[in-house]
Amino acid sequence: MSLLSEHPETPATPAPLLDDAERLSLAELRELQLERLKQTVHHAYANVPLYTQKFDDAGVRPVDIRTLEDVAKLPFTTKADLRDTYPFGMFAVPMERVARIHASSGTTGRPTVVGYTKADLEVWADLIARSLRASGVRAGWKVHNAYGYGLFTGGLGAHAGIEKLGATVIPMSGGQTAKQVQLITDFAPDAIMCTPSYLLTIADAMEAAGIDPRSTSLKVAILGAEPWTNEMRRELEERLAIDAVDIYGLSEVMGPGVGNECVETKDGPHIWEDHFLPEVIDGDSGEVRGDGELGELVFTSLTKEAFPVIRYRTRDLTRLMPGTARPAMRRMEKITGRNDDMIILRGVNLFPTQIEEIALGIEELTPHFVLELTRTGRMDDLTVRIERHPSHAVERCEAAGGVLAKRIKQQIGSTVRVQLEEPGVLPRSEGKYQRVYDLR
Ligand code: DLL
Repeated sequence: MSLLSEHPETPATPAPLLDDAERLSLAELRELQLERLKQTVHHAYANVPLYTQKFDDAGVRPVDIRTLEDVAKLPFTTKADLRDTYPFGMFAVPMERVARIHASSGTTGRPTVVGYTKADLEVWADLIARSLRASGVRAGWKVHNAYGYGLFTGGLGAHAGIEKLGATVIPMSGGQTAKQVQLITDFAPDAIMCTPSYLLTIADAMEAAGIDPRSTSLKVAILGAEPWTNEMRRELEERLAIDAVDIYGLSEVMGPGVGNECVETKDGPHIWEDHFLPEVIDGDSGEVRGDGELGELVFTSLTKEAFPVIRYRTRDLTRLMPGTARPAMRRMEKITGRNDDMIILRGVNLFPTQIEEIALGIEELTPHFVLELTRTGRMDDLTVRIERHPSHAVERCEAAGGVLAKRIKQQIGSTVRVQLEEPGVLPRSEGKYQRVYDLR
């Protein structure tokens, strides 16, 4: 066969925008989920000693799972289980079948380690490709990937999916912000993947270099790996003249691409339910909560070979909502925060996203802020250090700082101190941004 005949001039029929699973009816999806749930439960019980033990302790056997609701009979899995079986104790296949390992850094102690077979990597790439299509990215586009490469699932996870979609990947990784700006200018990518806070850093760097962030070739940003609000979406869309969509995921369940927003609705990530069964529970009692109720998100993987997870507690707070752009697949509300990020200030619960939402409604302030917790005597204090907007006079910004404190009091109920900072003073994000500093 000549080389030419492999590259016919007439382009192949473009890949459909939805794959088969995205077209399933609700009944077909539930049937598929049940079949896969049963397989996963058998697989985990037979091959992971921790699950054998947990199931036995709970007095539940794989054959007891006859309906999707029966998932509630199964014990939860937590991050502590991963730590206790470090590094490979929860792998369900022999190491020879593990094609790749990732790990999440964790702030202290041992990282949590996850593994993938070749088939797992294929599914993951397919789901990223699906997520990108939902975001409006098309085959033939150039995608600048600024998620970190390495043990973090963001970079390599996104990378494989970009290739799978038939787009061109620019594997930039995180950091080297000046270089990011140069490559975005020179390579003219259509889309960018990074954390929302890092896109802010990049936009600032463009402005510092005399480049109008609205003038670049970028059309879409696929942003995730940290909580961000609809106010931040508006800020980024306005500043960069792009569509900003939300990609969700976590390494224990797979990595990026567990769910993704559809660009036409931008109403919270659709969970790719053909591969992950979501539940929302009461974080204290462990009781399952109905769709629409706020609680902790829990996932059971439905197709994973190397690292099946049963009722994994994400610590992410959200609610499940009916599907819209993909009617059979449920959506999750944009994440409010993680259990771990919740600040309890004199009895009032507060999340950094709530401060972000309020601060972005005040034009003299910027989204660059950090929260510092200190203690005087037996009282906890919270200081919001926030950069003023460079285009407004200092006095006006100071007044705006007062407005911020007042609105936080009115809307959240907490008394905080607002400390106005000059532009550029606070640390800039290069990936997941650390907002809370506990100085107690
Ligand atoms: O952050 C995977 C990822 C990479 C997702 C790139 C999206 C894009 P981990 O490092 O294991 O994995 O961290 C997972 O990050 O439990 C959430 O708390 C948070 N998170 C991830 N995506 C979002 C999002 C990756 N879209 C943890 N919105 C999760 C809010 C998110 N929080």
